[in-house]
Amino acid sequence: MTKASDKKLLTLFESRQAQTVPPVWLMRQAGRYLPEYRKTREQAGGFLDLCYTPELAEEVTLQPIRRYGFDAAILFADILLLPQAMGQKLWFETGEGPRLTPIVNANSLTLDGLANHLAPVFETLKRLSVSLPPEVTRIGFAGAPWTVASYMVAGRGTPDQAPARALAEQDRQAFQEIIDMLVVASIDYLAAQIDAGAEVIQLFESWASSLHGADFERWCVAPVARIIAGLKAYAPNVPIIAFPRATSYDLTAYANETGCDGLSLGADCDRRKLADTLPPELVVQGNLDPQILVAGGAAMLKEIAAIKADFAGRPFIFNLGHGIVPQTPPAHIGELIAAVRAV
Ligand code: CP3
Repeated sequence: MTKASDKKLLTLFESRQAQTVPPVWLMRQAGRYLPEYRKTREQAGGFLDLCYTPELAEEVTLQPIRRYGFDAAILFADILLLPQAMGQKLWFETGEGPRLTPIVNANSLTLDGLANHLAPVFETLKRLSVSLPPEVTRIGFAGAPWTVASYMVAGRGTPDQAPARALAEQDRQAFQEIIDMLVVASIDYLAAQIDAGAEVIQLFESWASSLHGADFERWCVAPVARIIAGLKAYAPNVPIIAFPRATSYDLTAYANETGCDGLSLGADCDRRKLADTLPPELVVQGNLDPQILVAGGAAMLKEIAAIKADFAGRPFIFNLGHGIVPQTPPAHIGELIAAVRAV
């Protein structure tokens, strides 16, 4: 049996102490920048086939671990599998992104098929519990309700989430019902991920920046707080990282109000100020700009050193401010890992 203490990232949440070398993983570490990912994806047929074929989803989760030896592996899946499991039609347009049949209320949604529809995802996690090296922490995830609902209402990604904001304004009750169903579904989904082997959970609020003030509290803070409370009642020791990307909301208040154990930071924050003001036991993750990884070289190494220095005094996980972009040269990731681990 592997002890939790063999796992650098999991141990950080137990100790809440600064480490000389922070644990490191990267959002979208399994993805199109890797030739072996592109090959497996082609073998699968499409992106969703890849998500729902446990052997292949396992394989692409393992690929970046084999190449780089990250301290954590994030389950290969997508935040939009959950609305699909709730009955909404989902497909991916090649070269463009996700498409869903737009909804204006929760009438067509159901929680009845969740476990059945998402069984392959749980199977992927079970397989990873066996195949990952014992020192690698397994991260499960879901989208936060506002972010997922923004796709469900618009039927696609939007720059400003205008369709969801309009629905929340015009029919608050209907929008609340969509959010409420997502809260319940997310708790079930993440509890099942924990049962299948997830050791840490991350909640992706990629579109946190489109809401402010009372709207942010109602649609971003409150639903995430309910999910975290639900999971803490189920599995009190599983750490939860929240990622309210690019929000202007006070992050100490966000952490306190949601009850998250870790906070993932976007690329655009005031690092020094946050390093001094965030609660000392809160684990911070982030915030290297993914574009810096595309260029690589001295600028990348300088920024890595600056991030390490700014967060040296607190519990910290090295990561990006958003996902790796497809144009990133794989060699730059190897250089990043070496720089993060250099003492
Ligand atoms: O390595 C990992 O990070 C694990 C897997 C993962 C994916 N998506 C795989 C993926 C995770 C954690 C996600 C989360 C996700 N999915 C988010 C939140 C994080 C973020 O990026 O803001 C969002 C908003 C989605 C929805 C989604 N999925 C979009 C908008 C797109 C299209 C954009 C794009 O990059 O192509 C996807 C597709 C997607 N999800 C890919 C991957 C590897 C690319 C698909 C491909 O192979 O063509």
